[in-house]
Amino acid sequence: TLPKAIRIVEMGPRDGLQSEKKILPSDIKVEFINRLSECGYKNIEVTSFVSPKWVPQMGDNLEVFQRIYKKPGVTYSALTPNVKGYESAKSVGVPEVAIFASASEGFSQKNINCSIEESIQRFRSIMHSAYIDKIRVRGYISCVFGCPYDGEISPEAVRSVALKLKEIGCYEISLGDTIGIGTPTKTKALIESVLYDLAPSEVAVHFHNTFDRALENIFTALEMGITTVDSSIASLGGCPYADGATGNVSTEDVAFLCQELGIETGLDINALCRTANWMSKISGIPNRSVYQIHE
Ligand code: HMG
Ligand code: MG
Repeated sequence: TLPKAIRIVEMGPRDGLQSEKKILPSDIKVEFINRLSECGYKNIEVTSFVSPKWVPQMGDNLEVFQRIYKKPGVTYSALTPNVKGYESAKSVGVPEVAIFASASEGFSQKNINCSIEESIQRFRSIMHSAYIDKIRVRGYISCVFGCPYDGEISPEAVRSVALKLKEIGCYEISLGDTIGIGTPTKTKALIESVLYDLAPSEVAVHFHNTFDRALENIFTALEMGITTVDSSIASLGGCPYADGATGNVSTEDVAFLCQELGIETGLDINALCRTANWMSKISGIPNRSVYQIHE
């Protein structure tokens, strides 16, 4: 059975913009996030406190986070790969951070320059501080179905990383199909596997739409009791360490699917579409959502 309501976590400003070749001015990012704040979200991922040598697109993280309007009731979060990133995020009052691990060794090395086990050790230090600082921590796992370097990944491999992230204190684990190779069958097997150790309320799904199957996979996840979905307005994005991966599933498309299914998202679809049009026009990045309004 399908849930009555779900929570959508907006990825556009972070996952979306991190892999666009063009680095947008901070002014545009700030206005983009301010416009998103009027669309009805409870969660917007704003930026990442990663090395600017690795991802220059997020190099204005401090400025962007400081300047955005923080609408009451909306949680503005950011990615932090290590204690240095965590301390920067904390210095500008980020209330929720995300750590990011991988289900594959190859991607872990390419993305954060360490093994899976080393990354978990690194994250323990963040968790320790976050606990004291009362900052909530979300966990991501990349390459949950397959990896551009290591090939296919088993549900058991994901289950083991998910359990570690839960044990160190993540309140929610987002399962990332980084290269967008998921299918409903694979989604079912994956979610069954992680639900041995995690409650459905502790699991989020994060599909990239490379092969246009993200919506089917989301439908499968919702039927299995998952109620948190990551998506990106205008289907922005990709991954700087996964060539050819396209954006996250479009927020407008997920919101429209949910509307058709009678599932509450709290989002204003017209406001989303107008924001996607604005973003596409000002940035030159195409709007890849299927659901669009033509203004
Ligand atoms: P490293 O080079 O091993 O780090 O990178 P290091 O500790 O040796 O430091 C090297 C330099 O970086 C030093 O500067 C540090 O100060 C600096 P230098 O002395 O050379 O001038 N540095 C930092 N600067 C700013 N902020 C920091 C920071 N840390 C070190 N936090 C590191 C290791 C993890 C830092 C690097 O690999 C990195 O930044 N990786 C991030 C990559 C990334 O952002 N990937 C995309 C996000 S994950 C994703 O998109 C997947 C997801 O969407 C789910 C899915 O779809 O799968 C979440
Ligand atoms: Mg992603």
